[in-house]
Amino acid sequence: MKSRELALLGSGLLWITAASAAQAYPGGTPSYQTDVAPFCAACHSSVDEAALAGARERAAKEVVEKKHLATILAGLRGYGELSEADRATLVEHIRAIDANSKIEMEFPPQVAPGETFQVKVNVTGGAGPVVGVGLVDRAHRWYARPASSAGWIMGGAPTVIGSDGQPQSAWISKRPEAVGRNITFVNVTGIESDAAAGSWAKAKIIYTLKAPDKPGDYPLVGVYFYGTEKASPLGYTTSPLGQKQVRGGGSSASGRVKFTEEFVITVK
Ligand code: HEC
Repeated sequence: MKSRELALLGSGLLWITAASAAQAYPGGTPSYQTDVAPFCAACHSSVDEAALAGARERAAKEVVEKKHLATILAGLRGYGELSEADRATLVEHIRAIDANSKIEMEFPPQVAPGETFQVKVNVTGGAGPVVGVGLVDRAHRWYARPASSAGWIMGGAPTVIGSDGQPQSAWISKRPEAVGRNITFVNVTGIESDAAAGSWAKAKIIYTLKAPDKPGDYPLVGVYFYGTEKASPLGYTTSPLGQKQVRGGGSSASGRVKFTEEFVITVK
Protein backbone atom coordinates (compact mmCIF):
# COMPACT_ATOMS: atom_id res chain seq x y z
CA MET A 1 0.00 0.00 0.00
CA LYS A 2 1.26 3.51 -0.84
CA SER A 3 2.16 5.76 2.03
CA ARG A 4 -0.58 8.24 1.19
CA GLU A 5 -3.20 5.51 1.34
CA LEU A 6 -1.77 4.40 4.66
CA ALA A 7 -1.96 7.94 5.99
CA LEU A 8 -5.58 8.23 4.86
CA LEU A 9 -6.43 4.88 6.40
CA GLY A 10 -4.70 5.96 9.61
CA SER A 11 -6.62 9.21 9.90
CA GLY A 12 -9.89 7.42 9.12
CA LEU A 13 -9.31 4.96 11.94
CA LEU A 14 -8.48 7.76 14.34
CA TRP A 15 -11.68 9.52 13.41
CA ILE A 16 -13.75 6.38 13.89
CA THR A 17 -12.17 5.71 17.28
CA ALA A 18 -12.76 9.26 18.52
CA ALA A 19 -16.34 9.35 17.28
CA SER A 20 -17.36 6.02 18.72
CA ALA A 21 -15.67 6.76 22.04
CA ALA A 22 -17.51 10.05 22.32
CA GLN A 23 -20.85 8.46 21.53
CA ALA A 24 -20.64 5.10 23.19
CA TYR A 25 -19.00 5.39 26.58
CA PRO A 26 -20.34 8.48 28.22
CA GLY A 27 -23.84 7.03 28.26
CA GLY A 28 -22.56 3.53 29.08
CA THR A 29 -22.49 0.75 26.49
CA PRO A 30 -25.92 0.84 24.83
CA SER A 31 -24.76 -1.45 22.02
CA TYR A 32 -22.71 -4.09 23.83
CA GLN A 33 -24.62 -6.65 25.88
CA THR A 34 -21.76 -8.94 26.90
CA ASP A 35 -19.18 -9.65 29.59
CA VAL A 36 -16.81 -6.74 30.11
CA ALA A 37 -13.42 -6.55 31.78
CA PRO A 38 -12.19 -3.22 33.16
CA PHE A 39 -9.26 -2.89 30.73
CA CYS A 40 -11.79 -1.56 28.23
CA ALA A 41 -12.25 1.57 30.31
CA ALA A 42 -8.72 2.83 29.64
CA CYS A 43 -9.83 6.47 29.87
CA HIS A 44 -11.45 6.06 33.29
CA SER A 45 -9.55 6.96 36.48
CA SER A 46 -8.94 4.54 39.34
CA VAL A 47 -9.72 5.30 42.95
CA ASP A 48 -6.49 3.76 44.23
CA GLU A 49 -3.14 2.52 43.00
CA ALA A 50 -3.89 -1.02 44.14
CA ALA A 51 -6.12 -1.45 41.07
CA LEU A 52 -2.93 -1.40 39.00
CA ALA A 53 -0.65 -3.27 41.38
CA GLY A 54 2.63 -4.11 39.69
CA ALA A 55 2.40 -1.32 37.10
CA ARG A 56 4.82 0.94 39.06
CA GLU A 57 4.73 4.64 37.92
CA ARG A 58 1.79 3.94 35.66
CA ALA A 59 -0.37 2.97 38.66
CA ALA A 60 0.15 6.39 40.24
CA LYS A 61 -0.74 8.16 36.99
CA GLU A 62 -4.08 6.38 36.71
CA VAL A 63 -5.57 7.62 39.98
CA VAL A 64 -8.34 10.24 40.19
CA GLU A 65 -6.14 13.04 41.60
CA LYS A 66 -3.48 12.81 38.88
CA LYS A 67 -5.41 11.60 35.86
CA HIS A 68 -8.56 13.73 36.27
CA LEU A 69 -8.57 16.39 39.02
CA ALA A 70 -5.08 17.79 38.26
CA THR A 71 -6.18 18.45 34.64
CA ILE A 72 -9.22 20.40 35.86
CA LEU A 73 -7.27 22.48 38.40
CA ALA A 74 -4.65 23.28 35.75
CA GLY A 75 -7.38 24.49 33.36
CA LEU A 76 -6.34 22.10 30.59
CA ARG A 77 -8.66 20.53 27.98
CA GLY A 78 -12.19 22.05 28.08
CA TYR A 79 -11.71 23.06 31.72
CA GLY A 80 -9.94 26.29 30.76
CA GLU A 81 -13.35 27.78 29.94
CA LEU A 82 -14.16 27.82 33.66
CA SER A 83 -12.79 30.42 36.09
CA GLU A 84 -10.34 29.24 38.72
CA ALA A 85 -13.06 29.45 41.39
CA ASP A 86 -15.47 27.38 39.26
CA ARG A 87 -12.78 24.78 38.62
CA ALA A 88 -12.26 24.48 42.38
CA THR A 89 -16.03 24.04 42.86
CA LEU A 90 -16.16 21.43 40.09
CA VAL A 91 -13.37 19.50 41.83
CA GLU A 92 -15.29 19.74 45.12
CA HIS A 93 -18.43 18.34 43.42
CA ILE A 94 -16.42 15.52 41.85
CA ARG A 95 -14.87 14.60 45.20
CA ALA A 96 -18.40 14.43 46.62
CA ILE A 97 -19.65 12.15 43.84
CA ASP A 98 -16.62 9.90 44.26
CA ALA A 99 -17.15 9.70 48.03
CA ASN A 100 -20.80 8.76 47.50
CA SER A 101 -20.34 6.33 44.60
CA LYS A 102 -20.03 2.98 46.32
CA ILE A 103 -20.25 -0.67 45.39
CA GLU A 104 -21.14 -3.35 47.94
CA MET A 105 -21.71 -7.04 47.46
CA GLU A 106 -23.85 -9.49 49.47
CA PHE A 107 -23.06 -13.19 49.08
CA PRO A 108 -23.01 -16.42 51.10
CA PRO A 109 -19.48 -17.14 52.42
CA GLN A 110 -19.89 -20.86 51.71
CA VAL A 111 -21.95 -22.84 49.20
CA ALA A 112 -22.23 -26.52 48.24
CA PRO A 113 -20.71 -27.81 44.98
CA GLY A 114 -23.18 -27.14 42.15
CA GLU A 115 -25.45 -25.05 44.41
CA THR A 116 -27.44 -22.20 42.88
CA PHE A 117 -27.32 -18.99 44.93
CA GLN A 118 -27.71 -15.24 44.63
CA VAL A 119 -25.18 -12.45 44.75
CA LYS A 120 -26.55 -8.95 45.27
CA VAL A 121 -24.57 -5.92 44.23
CA ASN A 122 -25.67 -2.52 45.56
CA VAL A 123 -24.33 0.65 44.01
CA THR A 124 -24.88 4.29 44.89
CA GLY A 125 -23.96 7.52 43.14
CA GLY A 126 -22.68 7.74 39.58
CA ALA A 127 -23.44 10.84 37.55
CA GLY A 128 -25.77 9.02 35.17
CA PRO A 129 -27.62 8.66 32.90
CA VAL A 130 -26.12 5.16 33.13
CA VAL A 131 -23.81 3.16 35.37
CA GLY A 132 -22.18 -0.20 34.61
CA VAL A 133 -21.75 -3.10 37.05
CA GLY A 134 -19.91 -6.38 36.56
CA LEU A 135 -18.61 -9.46 38.35
CA VAL A 136 -14.95 -10.28 37.85
CA ASP A 137 -12.30 -12.50 39.43
CA ARG A 138 -9.85 -9.91 40.78
CA ALA A 139 -9.64 -6.20 41.65
CA HIS A 140 -7.16 -5.33 38.91
CA ARG A 141 -7.76 -3.13 35.88
CA TRP A 142 -5.52 -5.00 33.49
CA TYR A 143 -5.75 -8.57 34.77
CA ALA A 144 -9.37 -8.99 35.86
CA ARG A 145 -11.43 -11.50 33.88
CA PRO A 146 -15.20 -12.00 33.91
CA ALA A 147 -16.24 -14.01 37.00
CA SER A 148 -17.30 -16.95 34.82
CA SER A 149 -13.60 -17.59 34.06
CA ALA A 150 -13.07 -18.44 37.76
CA GLY A 151 -15.56 -21.34 37.55
CA TRP A 152 -18.81 -19.59 38.49
CA ILE A 153 -21.66 -20.38 36.13
CA MET A 154 -24.09 -17.55 35.48
CA GLY A 155 -27.55 -18.99 35.99
CA GLY A 156 -29.66 -16.55 33.97
CA ALA A 157 -30.07 -12.88 33.10
CA PRO A 158 -29.08 -10.55 35.94
CA THR A 159 -32.03 -8.72 37.53
CA VAL A 160 -31.55 -4.96 37.57
CA ILE A 161 -33.47 -2.75 40.01
CA GLY A 162 -33.11 0.91 39.02
CA SER A 163 -32.89 4.04 41.14
CA ASP A 164 -36.72 4.24 41.13
CA GLY A 165 -36.90 0.79 42.77
CA GLN A 166 -38.37 -0.75 39.61
CA PRO A 167 -36.93 -3.73 37.72
CA GLN A 168 -35.61 -2.81 34.28
CA SER A 169 -34.82 -5.03 31.30
CA ALA A 170 -34.56 -2.76 28.24
CA TRP A 171 -30.77 -3.00 28.09
CA ILE A 172 -30.38 -6.77 28.59
CA SER A 173 -33.31 -7.47 26.23
CA LYS A 174 -31.21 -6.17 23.34
CA ARG A 175 -29.15 -9.36 23.65
CA PRO A 176 -30.87 -12.12 21.67
CA GLU A 177 -32.38 -14.66 24.05
CA ALA A 178 -31.07 -17.49 21.87
CA VAL A 179 -27.43 -16.65 22.71
CA GLY A 180 -28.17 -16.60 26.46
CA ARG A 181 -28.56 -13.57 28.69
CA ASN A 182 -26.55 -15.04 31.57
CA ILE A 183 -23.83 -12.38 31.39
CA THR A 184 -21.75 -10.80 34.16
CA PHE A 185 -22.02 -7.14 33.07
CA VAL A 186 -25.03 -4.83 32.98
CA ASN A 187 -25.93 -1.21 32.36
CA VAL A 188 -28.37 0.46 34.74
CA THR A 189 -30.29 3.34 33.14
CA GLY A 190 -32.29 6.16 34.72
CA ILE A 191 -29.40 7.14 37.01
CA GLU A 192 -29.11 10.76 38.08
CA SER A 193 -26.97 12.09 40.93
CA ASP A 194 -26.59 15.76 41.80
CA ALA A 195 -23.46 16.70 43.71
CA ALA A 196 -24.58 20.32 44.29
CA ALA A 197 -27.84 19.12 45.89
CA GLY A 198 -26.21 16.11 47.59
CA SER A 199 -28.62 13.59 46.05
CA TRP A 200 -27.30 10.22 45.00
CA ALA A 201 -28.79 7.57 42.74
CA LYS A 202 -28.87 3.91 43.76
CA ALA A 203 -29.34 0.56 42.07
CA LYS A 204 -29.28 -3.14 42.84
CA ILE A 205 -28.22 -6.02 40.61
CA ILE A 206 -29.16 -9.57 41.55
CA TYR A 207 -27.04 -12.25 39.91
CA THR A 208 -27.88 -15.94 40.05
CA LEU A 209 -24.76 -18.09 40.19
CA LYS A 210 -24.17 -21.80 40.16
CA ALA A 211 -21.15 -23.01 42.13
CA PRO A 212 -18.43 -25.13 40.48
CA ASP A 213 -18.56 -28.89 41.15
CA LYS A 214 -15.03 -29.00 42.53
CA PRO A 215 -14.58 -27.94 46.19
CA GLY A 216 -12.19 -25.06 46.83
CA ASP A 217 -11.94 -21.31 47.39
CA TYR A 218 -13.16 -19.24 44.45
CA PRO A 219 -12.71 -15.47 44.01
CA LEU A 220 -15.54 -13.04 43.33
CA VAL A 221 -15.19 -9.27 42.92
CA GLY A 222 -17.67 -6.56 41.93
CA VAL A 223 -16.65 -3.78 39.53
CA TYR A 224 -18.39 -0.44 39.14
CA PHE A 225 -18.11 1.86 36.10
CA TYR A 226 -19.53 5.35 36.55
CA GLY A 227 -19.17 8.93 35.36
CA THR A 228 -18.66 12.01 37.51
CA GLU A 229 -18.88 15.28 35.59
CA LYS A 230 -22.54 15.11 34.62
CA ALA A 231 -23.40 15.24 38.34
CA SER A 232 -22.12 18.82 38.59
CA PRO A 233 -23.73 21.84 36.91
CA LEU A 234 -20.15 22.92 36.08
CA GLY A 235 -19.16 19.54 34.65
CA TYR A 236 -20.97 19.58 31.33
CA THR A 237 -22.29 21.67 28.48
CA THR A 238 -25.61 20.95 26.80
CA SER A 239 -25.74 20.06 23.10
CA PRO A 240 -28.38 21.61 20.80
CA LEU A 241 -30.23 18.27 21.16
CA GLY A 242 -30.33 18.74 24.93
CA GLN A 243 -27.70 16.08 25.72
CA LYS A 244 -25.20 16.60 28.52
CA GLN A 245 -21.64 16.65 27.16
CA VAL A 246 -18.83 16.19 29.64
CA ARG A 247 -16.59 19.21 29.88
CA GLY A 248 -13.40 17.21 29.51
CA GLY A 249 -14.68 15.51 26.33
CA GLY A 250 -15.38 11.87 25.51
CA SER A 251 -11.75 10.82 25.85
CA SER A 252 -11.24 12.45 29.25
CA ALA A 253 -10.58 10.74 32.57
CA SER A 254 -13.90 11.63 34.25
CA GLY A 255 -15.14 8.03 34.20
CA ARG A 256 -14.24 5.73 37.09
CA VAL A 257 -13.43 2.09 37.74
CA LYS A 258 -14.08 1.02 41.33
CA PHE A 259 -13.80 -2.51 42.73
CA THR A 260 -15.11 -4.24 45.83
CA GLU A 261 -12.62 -6.11 47.98
CA GLU A 262 -11.29 -9.37 46.55
CA PHE A 263 -13.79 -11.74 48.18
CA VAL A 264 -13.53 -15.51 48.30
CA ILE A 265 -16.45 -17.96 48.46
CA THR A 266 -15.74 -21.45 49.71
CA VAL A 267 -17.28 -24.34 47.80
CA LYS A 268 -17.52 -27.31 50.21
C1 HEC B 1 -12.33 7.12 25.21
C2 HEC B 1 -12.36 7.08 26.67
C3 HEC B 1 -13.24 6.01 27.30
C4 HEC B 1 -13.19 4.66 27.10
C5 HEC B 1 -12.25 3.86 26.22
C6 HEC B 1 -14.26 4.10 27.91
N1 HEC B 1 -14.89 5.08 28.59
FE1 HEC B 1 -16.45 4.84 29.87
N2 HEC B 1 -16.61 6.86 30.05
C7 HEC B 1 -15.77 7.79 29.50
C8 HEC B 1 -16.21 9.12 29.87
C9 HEC B 1 -15.56 10.43 29.49
C10 HEC B 1 -17.38 8.95 30.67
C11 HEC B 1 -18.27 10.04 31.27
C12 HEC B 1 -17.82 10.43 32.61
C13 HEC B 1 -18.58 11.58 33.21
O1 HEC B 1 -19.81 11.62 33.28
O2 HEC B 1 -17.87 12.44 33.70
C14 HEC B 1 -17.59 7.51 30.74
C15 HEC B 1 -18.64 6.94 31.42
C16 HEC B 1 -18.91 5.59 31.45
C17 HEC B 1 -20.06 5.01 32.11
C18 HEC B 1 -21.13 5.77 32.83
C19 HEC B 1 -22.03 6.45 31.85
C20 HEC B 1 -22.01 7.96 31.90
O3 HEC B 1 -22.40 8.56 30.90
O4 HEC B 1 -21.60 8.53 32.89
C21 HEC B 1 -19.99 3.65 31.93
C22 HEC B 1 -20.97 2.61 32.40
C23 HEC B 1 -18.77 3.39 31.19
N3 HEC B 1 -18.14 4.60 30.90
C24 HEC B 1 -18.32 2.14 30.86
C25 HEC B 1 -17.26 1.90 30.01
C26 HEC B 1 -16.91 0.59 29.54
C27 HEC B 1 -17.60 -0.69 29.93
C28 HEC B 1 -15.86 0.74 28.69
C29 HEC B 1 -15.18 -0.31 27.85
C30 HEC B 1 -16.05 -1.06 26.95
C31 HEC B 1 -15.54 2.17 28.67
N4 HEC B 1 -16.41 2.83 29.48
C32 HEC B 1 -14.52 2.75 27.95
C33 HEC B 1 -14.67 7.52 28.72
C34 HEC B 1 -14.31 6.28 28.24
